[in-house]
Amino acid sequence: MPGARIHQFRPQLLAPGTRDAPFSPVLPVGELPPGSMRRVTDGDLDVLLAHTPEGIVAVDDRCPHMSAPLSIGTLEGCEVQCPLHEGRFDLCSGDPVRMPTTGGLDPDGVYHATWSPAGLPPKTDPPGLKAEARRLTRVRRFRYYPVRIVDGTIEVALPADLEP
Ligand code: FES
Repeated sequence: MPGARIHQFRPQLLAPGTRDAPFSPVLPVGELPPGSMRRVTDGDLDVLLAHTPEGIVAVDDRCPHMSAPLSIGTLEGCEVQCPLHEGRFDLCSGDPVRMPTTGGLDPDGVYHATWSPAGLPPKTDPPGLKAEARRLTRVRRFRYYPVRIVDGTIEVALPADLEP
């Protein structure tokens, strides 16, 4: 795909273990048209490739809330919506855009209450350990894997496999 570009993420959001990691070919760039997402897997690592208006990004294919696969969510511009609790996350900035329906902590540790999609009654959260777990679950910012395109193939720098 001529002209496909790579999104330049904030350096502080580099995924751990990738600073000097080797690049691995993961997908022909023609299989990731603008506006699409794909999961690629390396060992036990599932990576989300997304072709946003600001370029191609690679992050974990795990929601920053409770790890649901974002690759089966929806992508609108830079924003991906999680299929599990309707959280929305900006793949270009790394920040959450809309907190999950469960509420909880944002990346800065600020609490957000539960919410309901328009037209539905407000959710109640019965007290107990599950409610406490939801309240203390922190949504994090994305961590990015370095990406490059070589001879029409997307390559991603992935951390070395963990020893079994
Ligand atoms: S797991 Fe994605 S919003 Fe909860």
